[in-house]
Amino acid sequence: MNSSLNLSAQAQIIDGKATANAVLEEVKAEVEQFKAQGIAPCLAVVLVGDDPASHVYVRNKVEKAQYVGIRSLEFRLDADTDQQTLLAQIDALNRDMSVHGILVQLPLPEQINETVVLEFIDPKKDVDGFHSENVGGLSQGRDVLTPCTPTGCIRLLKDTIGENLSGLHAVVVGRSNIVGKPMAALLLKESCTVTVVHSKTKNIQALCQQADIVVAAVGRPRMLNQEYFNPNAVVIDVGINRIQENGKNRLVGDVDFEEVANHVQAISPVPGGVGPMTIAYLMKNTLTAARLQTQQI
Ligand code: GUN
Repeated sequence: MNSSLNLSAQAQIIDGKATANAVLEEVKAEVEQFKAQGIAPCLAVVLVGDDPASHVYVRNKVEKAQYVGIRSLEFRLDADTDQQTLLAQIDALNRDMSVHGILVQLPLPEQINETVVLEFIDPKKDVDGFHSENVGGLSQGRDVLTPCTPTGCIRLLKDTIGENLSGLHAVVVGRSNIVGKPMAALLLKESCTVTVVHSKTKNIQALCQQADIVVAAVGRPRMLNQEYFNPNAVVIDVGINRIQENGKNRLVGDVDFEEVANHVQAISPVPGGVGPMTIAYLMKNTLTAARLQTQQI
């Protein structure tokens, strides 16, 4: 990383789309190796209900799987599906040796207990990395299946800063199970000094100002302005917030990009930053899962 002071120069814009494409090409080549050994990596996606955003996400996942040569199976269940029916579907997928990855799209309808469902997925097929066995494994620094979004963020950080993140102070803003907590665990595994700040934290701004790395995952549009960063900060914005501005729909992050972009070392934009990395790492995780189950490659 360039450690000279960066007072008002344009920050490096971290191109998540380009990096995601590079990851997909890596996956494509690895899929060929699996196929050469007679294994067809396969991802099953289960969608319950008719949440429009979830439908878009699932379609994107299936399309990307097709692109890299991963076989995909899609299961769409009605919004009023009961928990037993969903568990029976997962049980069938757990037992099916030709299925390597299982993803149940969240959120689930209210009659279904999310924890029960996620715990029911075979941990070796848990491409989301949400099963407690994988969560626990990650907290112990073991090589397990890890959540796609924070894993993608680590790749963006390494592409920007270099492979060695050791000793850097990383501040994670947000403590969700999907992003904040696994992000903190992954950064710790990289030997960063990690601070997690959240809605009850006193003086978030002062803590962020000390950071070499800031990962924002709170879901509050443009919460972090210029005052939160030192000029050498590398900023990863996980937020995807839909807002209305001047009568138009816009997607913005948790960081005020326009204001911050000239005052930090590097920043990921929204859209085009973290978003494409999530699906790319879902594909990577599907191959990791296939490897865990076949012990072939
Ligand atoms: N819904 C929003 N993000 C995610 C995710 O990472 N995994 C799953 N399964 N559902 C989601």
